[in-house]
Amino acid sequence: MCGIVGYIGKKSAVDILLEGLTNLEYRGYDSSGIALNIDNKVQLYKAAGKLQNLKNIVEKNYSEISKSTIGIGHIRWATHGAPTIENAHPHSCNCGKVAVVHNGIIENYKELREKLEKNGCTFRSQTDTETVAHLVATKYGETHDLTEAVRLATKEIEGAYALCVIHQDVKNTIVATRRNAPLVVGLGDGENFVASDVPALIQYTKKAMYLDDNQIVTLTPDSIKLIDIDNNPLSQKVETLPWEPVALSKMGYKHFMLKEIHEQPDVVRNVLSGKLRAIDENITLNEVTLDKDKIKDLNRIQIVACGTSLHAAMVGKYIIEDFCGIAVDVEPSSEYIYRKTITDKNTLVIGVSQSGETADTITAVRQAKCKGSHILIITNRPDSTMAREADSLVPVNAGIEVSVAATKSYMAQLISFYLIAIYIAEVKNSMPANELADLKHELIVLPQKIEKVLAHKEDIQKCAKAFSSSKDFIFIARGINFPTALEGALKLKEISYINATGYTAGELKHGPIAMLDESMPVLSILMSGKVYDKILSNSEEAKARNARMIALTDSEDEKLNELFDYIIRIPEISEILSPALSIVPLQLIAYYIAEFLGKDVDQPRNLAKSVTVE
Ligand code: F6R
Repeated sequence: MCGIVGYIGKKSAVDILLEGLTNLEYRGYDSSGIALNIDNKVQLYKAAGKLQNLKNIVEKNYSEISKSTIGIGHIRWATHGAPTIENAHPHSCNCGKVAVVHNGIIENYKELREKLEKNGCTFRSQTDTETVAHLVATKYGETHDLTEAVRLATKEIEGAYALCVIHQDVKNTIVATRRNAPLVVGLGDGENFVASDVPALIQYTKKAMYLDDNQIVTLTPDSIKLIDIDNNPLSQKVETLPWEPVALSKMGYKHFMLKEIHEQPDVVRNVLSGKLRAIDENITLNEVTLDKDKIKDLNRIQIVACGTSLHAAMVGKYIIEDFCGIAVDVEPSSEYIYRKTITDKNTLVIGVSQSGETADTITAVRQAKCKGSHILIITNRPDSTMAREADSLVPVNAGIEVSVAATKSYMAQLISFYLIAIYIAEVKNSMPANELADLKHELIVLPQKIEKVLAHKEDIQKCAKAFSSSKDFIFIARGINFPTALEGALKLKEISYINATGYTAGELKHGPIAMLDESMPVLSILMSGKVYDKILSNSEEAKARNARMIALTDSEDEKLNELFDYIIRIPEISEILSPALSIVPLQLIAYYIAEFLGKDVDQPRNLAKSVTVE
């Protein structure tokens, strides 16, 4: 949440900062701001609302603003204080010489603020961040050294932060530091960059350095100096970023979400590549470092995740229990961390996270690690904080996901769970080889089936249009597709703001059925398998209450025509693999409804892609 970016070099800083913020917009978009050193004076430009508002301000003053070759910028997802101009970053001190941008939460900001106010600091915002600006200015007054001022300030700050700081009197220097919030430095030729995430840098450099907690970096155009919080000099590994700038282009699609939905066949191929070679060969999962004997001894698996990743985890539970005969608990990370969890060395704890930066999931896996569990992380960001907590790291290789609503990363997480479950089943010999071979074959042909669904999206579009004025929406399913119902509902509510809920079809008559009438659409996920008939009869019950019925099915059954107002037909698929296909039409329904309603599909209100606060 919140994105920060800094540039120092010979080019006009404002262009690079605005480009960087555009590529970090997925981290928040309540307000934005930049600080530049223009003619030896630190100048702040801020705007409430979307980044475009800041761009408009910059455009009006461009000839003046474009002179600066050093600057820092911020895109905000409000935590402390409303998304107003006063609360937008950068924040400054009394004399206006210091500018600070921050991602995270300063937990002891109230005490710090009280102390600083007593010493004469005047606060202009309600943010926790402004304390840092005053604190750094105070420390600079004592030391006349910006790096030292930041270092001393971080000794007094509690909480999570990634910070970038400039000072009017220290020309050509940016100081940055982090604790429990991501920060990456980009190395250029006669220029250097710093940002919350790679998309802000990738246009300019592929050479990067990830900061660890409590490290402080001092950037000039030609140098990078790294120290720890006790002032010891450090060297840091420079890495080559695997991303291509093209990942940040919509490639002709109207929205990133639509592009990312269409990337899913290739995402499946990528995840399987090198791991599933042939149906008669065992899965290769070099990333799982847990000893094979220990896998055999596992008596329990716990999976922690949030949001869409939690839904992938719920599918993972079904598959692992079915294939491996190991009890699996799935819990939202935010619940896991505030109770006495029974976790030990014979428990495998799996953390699932697209971003690898979700604060609750990081805390959950750290807690489990302290209790001796092996930590397996499934993430789209092998460069993330969570990845660094991993004993086994399974990168899902979905590529950068820009749309706030997760789609292709969900697909990649699902496929990773199939691979992990087959891998454990092969180690434990818990499934007949012919059944595993059938599933492997189905995984290999899955991309073609997804392509078929995408090729017939006009039917889905028509259905979406017919229901786009609905205020509420119910998704029902049973068994392994119950998480699909939850995920379909989540996609719809987050981008269209329709009140959508997923229920197990069997629970409908225990309460929710009271809501049904002719205004309520009910979408039944009716995939062939052991619960097909049950869901069909639950759908009859809903129809009898006049609900408007939609079926999502792989069945050709003619009888469905009488029961359902709309039928979305997808290729036939085994029940166990069906969540990886049935989710695609639901992503498209959510997308088209939001598009018909004219919503901001890629940046829905109140959300941020990377939830770095608890
Ligand atoms: C929904 C969505 C969120 C995330 C959740 C966890 O489309 O994207 O629900 O799934 O915030 O994020 P990660 O997976 O990054 O831990």
